[in-house]
Amino acid sequence: MSLFDRKPIAAADNGEHGMRRTLGAGDLVMLAIGAVIGAGIFSSLGTAAAGETLADGTVVRYGAGPALVLSFILLGAVCGLAALCYAELASMIPQAGSAYAYSYATLGEIVAWVVGWALILEYAVGNVAVAIGWSGYFTSLLSGFGIDLPPWLTHGYWNVKASSDPAIHGLLETAPRIGGIPILVNLPAFGIVAAITVLLMQGVKESTRANNIMVVVKLLVLALFVIVGAMHIDPANYKPFAPNGFRGIHQGAAIVFFAYIGFDAISTAAEETKNPQRNLPIGILGGLAVCTVIYVIVGGVATGLVPYDQLRSSDPLAKALSLAGLSTASWIVAAGATVSMAAVLLVFQYGQPRIFYSMARVGLLPKFAAKLHPKTRTPHITTLITGVAVALGSLVADDAATYDLTNIGTLAAFAVVCIGVLVLRVREPDRHRPFRVPFVWGVTLLGAGACVFVMKGLPSSAWKAFGVWMAIGLVIYFSYGFRHSVLRNPTDNR
Ligand code: ALA
Repeated sequence: MSLFDRKPIAAADNGEHGMRRTLGAGDLVMLAIGAVIGAGIFSSLGTAAAGETLADGTVVRYGAGPALVLSFILLGAVCGLAALCYAELASMIPQAGSAYAYSYATLGEIVAWVVGWALILEYAVGNVAVAIGWSGYFTSLLSGFGIDLPPWLTHGYWNVKASSDPAIHGLLETAPRIGGIPILVNLPAFGIVAAITVLLMQGVKESTRANNIMVVVKLLVLALFVIVGAMHIDPANYKPFAPNGFRGIHQGAAIVFFAYIGFDAISTAAEETKNPQRNLPIGILGGLAVCTVIYVIVGGVATGLVPYDQLRSSDPLAKALSLAGLSTASWIVAAGATVSMAAVLLVFQYGQPRIFYSMARVGLLPKFAAKLHPKTRTPHITTLITGVAVALGSLVADDAATYDLTNIGTLAAFAVVCIGVLVLRVREPDRHRPFRVPFVWGVTLLGAGACVFVMKGLPSSAWKAFGVWMAIGLVIYFSYGFRHSVLRNPTDNR
């Protein structure tokens, strides 16, 4: 048995016991919008446009400025390539666990572990970022009601440390202290994660109906932002268009990639899609195209409304409207953003325990993580562990750093999936593929290369954190998963 042993692919069961094929291309587009539009466009857009400089003057990243629209177009193309690869694997390996399950079947156990470990960055660390974005909008919403929370209760320690805004950075000195340690916590971010965890523990599920309502809310608030904002654009704000040249467009794209995360999640609906050869690519690419167009328009309006360097904030769309004197619209957008981001939190907070569950079922994680609650049939233990970890992270983390870490992990998983498609085509050319990537060599190699290219736009701090994370993952694999894997111990009765 080697590190690269693969888990055999189970055929899709669409018979009496399997899932029904009911989803059409339009349903997939709605699912994509539901999972995708969230903190990326509502929040990380600000840092992508404005860039980031630490209080000591160190430049962490250059901003795209108004050329942010080009970052969005670039990302639409990169994600399109990766999404096609996801569609092929999802239609032939229909299992919960997404990229993790695909790599187990294509590239072997150790790669699957690495991808599963990277997906924790996408789901759990990603949710820390979404919770902080949520808190930014929630705080401005409360301000609209005349309730101003003290800033030391709405900014986590690492966020304060990284901020170049003197009013925020100064909290290191002025915040109340306990035993000499400044109290700097993001209480609303902690609260929303705790509330969602409680809901999930009770067995709340994502539902198509709730998703459709969320999609309507998101589209309405973004439409309001665009219509009201467009009437107040000052063309002078578009000059210079690309203040930091291609470097800014690239580094801006690397952080705002967060806005595209979630396409991989809809590929898991492959088993329930009617005529997948036709509908999966239309649904996935159609959803991507719709989101890219929305992002380009929102980015264009945001950078026209105020000078791009004023967008650095965790609630840039509300801030842009209020700086332009449009306080009612700002308030409505803030309300819509909190609803939209809470929906994204629910989707990912729901997904993470299920990834842990599928890893534990095959022995890569301890057995308790594969336990289901006898009544709700949900993985309650991993739901609670995820909830506590994400809530604590949200309390103290910096949003930009968490976007970076999420993106690097997700892009790495995307690249592995692209390569996995090619490997499986070579190894098992005759296997039935309900959906086949066209021009497979070109799409897969270009897709993997494009993901690595976007990763290279992330700051060195993200690469270091990613390296540490992966090293911890390998230590855990060799000290636990390698020895307990069901593939290696078929008699282990889980
Ligand atoms: N794409 C999702 C968001 O922007 C993760 O919130």
